Amino acid sequence: MDKLKISITQAESFIDKNEIETLQKEIYFQNIALEQKQGKGSEFLGWHHLPSTISKELLEDIKNTAETIRKKAKLFVVIGIGGSYLGARAVIEALSNPFHAYQESENPKIIYAGQNLSEDYLHNLLALLDNQDYALTVISKSGTTTEPAVAFRLLKQHLENKYGEAEAAERIIAITDESKGALRTLANQKGYKTYVVPDDVGGRFSVLTPVGLLPIAIAGFDIDALVDGARKMESLCTSSSSPDVNPAAKYAIIRNALLRKGFDIEILINFSPTLMYFTEWWKQLYGESEGKEHKGIFPAGANFTTDLHSMGQYIQEGRRVIFETLISVKSANYKVQIPDDNQDLDGLNYLKGKNIEYVNQMAELGTTLAHIDGGVPNIKIEIERIDEFNLGQMIYFFELACAYSGYLLKVNPFDQPGVEAYKKNMFALLGKPGFEKETEAIRKRV
Ligand code: PA5
Repeated sequence: MDKLKISITQAESFIDKNEIETLQKEIYFQNIALEQKQGKGSEFLGWHHLPSTISKELLEDIKNTAETIRKKAKLFVVIGIGGSYLGARAVIEALSNPFHAYQESENPKIIYAGQNLSEDYLHNLLALLDNQDYALTVISKSGTTTEPAVAFRLLKQHLENKYGEAEAAERIIAITDESKGALRTLANQKGYKTYVVPDDVGGRFSVLTPVGLLPIAIAGFDIDALVDGARKMESLCTSSSSPDVNPAAKYAIIRNALLRKGFDIEILINFSPTLMYFTEWWKQLYGESEGKEHKGIFPAGANFTTDLHSMGQYIQEGRRVIFETLISVKSANYKVQIPDDNQDLDGLNYLKGKNIEYVNQMAELGTTLAHIDGGVPNIKIEIERIDEFNLGQMIYFFELACAYSGYLLKVNPFDQPGVEAYKKNMFALLGKPGFEKETEAIRKRV
């Protein structure tokens, strides 16, 4: 199997060579800190050797549960927010036919809830579920996050009304803390099948735990190959490997060197529309891990060529604070050629017989060169194709690079204290018991 490659040649001219050397030395120590669990947030390093340590029994158990659900349900609802759903969605959407919602298939269709508080969204979801055979998983490490809790309350009731309590309990899988939290208590009471979010794995690093693996298996994808890809990357990134061979270290170094030169916005670019949610997962991973103490690279995303007709203008000629990280996919999974046309009114006959992917690749190359000429450094991450193995490689690569980058920035990449601010205000505004003082204070402001 081909390994992921990273090329930084189109970024090097934008930085100082000295900076790279300094960062290489720093990362050597960050690597030791990670390995010896001496850095910030070291109680959350369960993801670090997860690919090589995940048990065969757990993978088998997940596949068996997935098989049972696949026989029962045409539709599977994943309830969760942030790290509790983005990893699964990133992989499922990357591997799915973009038109699967309109197709008959033996695979249940996966839909999502608990990732917003939109009344219209939930109304439409409940209306859809009235006429569908479905099952669900509710994923919340804390078991108390408002968005998934609201969605789960609605869907649990809906499921119980539709199938009765006993059958509803067979159709609910809870993924949560091993012993604490409201969801664990309810799951124990009702006898739901459960999986554990390990204590030492934070939400955004949890895609290779049941949090991601169960929905991915239910969607019909190969979780063994996904984990194999992550294992491959873990083995390439051993602590002894120098940044020259450790791709995650290379990526962390170059993006921090660019930051030190004033490039403080990173846009993750793809030329494959099914990677849109992979970008969303990446944005969460980096945004929530690095954006602290008024530091961090702002993670943005763009889907090309679509966004070349919108964001493309800004990237080419706007403020020069942007660098791009391109996920370059070498081969398409299918072949479609541009046909001949007698009249050639659109002038496309010069491309007749060419594969669409060839045109896409020329768009990719042309864009990269144009953006470099415009002052936008480019880091290229190359994978052979979009499949489970390569997604597994990319997941581990970006997770490890994120940890390195957080340590280079001297922040704790594994907590998210800033996320609490909106919750506190929302609870105060909603009059949640225990927030009386905050309620009084905030009502004076609005
Ligand atoms: O990465 C994280 O830790 C967060 O994005 C959480 O996953 C998210 O806030 C959901 O939390 P929980 O799983 O506790 O409901």
